[in-house]
Amino acid sequence: MEPKGHILVVDDEPSMRTALSILLRRKGYHVSQAGSGREALEIVRHGHCDMVLTDLKMEGVDGMELLRQVKAISPHTEVLIFTAYGTVASAVEAMKLGAYDYIGKPFDEEELLLKVARALERKALVREVQELKAELKGHRGAQEIIAKSEAMREVLAKVAQVAPTEATVLIEGESGTGKELIARAIHWASPRRNQPFIPINCSTLPETLLESELFGYEKGAFTGAERGRKGLFEAAHQGTLFLDEIGDMPSSLQGKLLRVLQEGEVRRLGSTKPIRVQVRILAATNQKIEHLVAHGVFREDLFYRLNVVRIPIPPLRSRVDDIIPLAHHFLEIYRKKTKKEIKGFSQEAVQALLNHPWPGNVRELENAVERGVILARSLYITPQDLSLGLPPYSGIVPGDSMTLKELQRRHILSVLQQHGGNQAKAARELGIGRNTLWRRLKQYGLLP
Ligand SMILES: Nc1ncnc2c1ncn2[C@@H]1O[C@H](COP(=O)(O)OP(=O)(O)OP(=O)(O)O)[C@@H](O)[C@H]1O
Ligand SMILES: [Mg+2]
Repeated sequence: MEPKGHILVVDDEPSMRTALSILLRRKGYHVSQAGSGREALEIVRHGHCDMVLTDLKMEGVDGMELLRQVKAISPHTEVLIFTAYGTVASAVEAMKLGAYDYIGKPFDEEELLLKVARALERKALVREVQELKAELKGHRGAQEIIAKSEAMREVLAKVAQVAPTEATVLIEGESGTGKELIARAIHWASPRRNQPFIPINCSTLPETLLESELFGYEKGAFTGAERGRKGLFEAAHQGTLFLDEIGDMPSSLQGKLLRVLQEGEVRRLGSTKPIRVQVRILAATNQKIEHLVAHGVFREDLFYRLNVVRIPIPPLRSRVDDIIPLAHHFLEIYRKKTKKEIKGFSQEAVQALLNHPWPGNVRELENAVERGVILARSLYITPQDLSLGLPPYSGIVPGDSMTLKELQRRHILSVLQQHGGNQAKAARELGIGRNTLWRRLKQYGLLP
């Protein structure tokens, strides 16, 4: 019989552990045992369990701390807490921290089994909902990747080749080409798929914040650090850390990152104690890192460390064979979402899609199709619905000499104005990521 779920029983009292294990095994669950919080955490990190059943009072890492850490390592693992008479207040506290429920001690067998069954049922439901959502939004999990062109098929072949290894991968491509999608695909096809995939964008956070995010800090490491926090390296332990826009990583952090990669351990800010982390690194960039190295902006040694396997994703304009399949893929997604009856694209719309240069790549195409689905007034999306033509530039007359940069700046500003300063909407219309927009605005001196 297939076990009904993997349950980890944690209690420092051996007799209690044994009794519980026997009871649960008899009901068809797969049961592991741990005699301390620390031991339990090792198991949670390595195996993957569906549920933790823990006593509240234990020496060392107690039930509350265990709960906190389990939720950090594996948010979908349900935690049930045992409480002796008189500790209901802590049980309530535990629920606030994400425990599924609590059970009074001594426990009633029927009640315990019912709560266990319900918690696992809920977990299964949560997962199902998430998978459905992922299918719709296409942002988590094993997402479908359209690859009709020879170039994209090569990309996928490389993904399949590197996924099972531990190799560091550098994914290169213009904005919107699907770098993050490929990074997730590598994680999903790797043995780490049940461990966390943690993306971090190196260009959006100020240097000090990025540093504390990545490496964590101890209490008192800087003003405002009222308690310690683990960094993303620790959070991604056993899993994958995706360093997006690595080319924008400040040079001081490049050195620190290199150290972590070489030594396999991190030190939180304000601490000298090394913490071993076992993390696979995937990095992405939309800039030519070689140029950054040549200009002294990016450390050469770090570049070599990251550049173990390289996966370049070509821009959409150079893989025309993907355009129509992608358009149909997004049409399907947005048709389902809006429940609008649409059969496809008109002949003219297909031509327009094929002729467009797609400076914002797949993301721009996705936005255009979404817009098309929303605006379409007949069964077939027309070129007008897609509105691929650039919006008119106010104040530009023929013969006006202007650098491309200036043109870009004005266009970005005018779109931003049209959306009343809403960056998310402007980025969407421009067919670029919010981060890219944010960076541009910063370049123009429009952001502090
Ligand atoms: N081959 C593909 N098949 C299906 N969907 C794709 C494909 N390529 C990209 N997409 C979709 O296009 C959108 C943009 O992709 P993604 O965010 O991975 O690009 P990116 O290169 O990381 O962009 P940026 O540089 O702006 O961060 C996402 O919604 C992604 O799911
Ligand atoms: Mg991205």
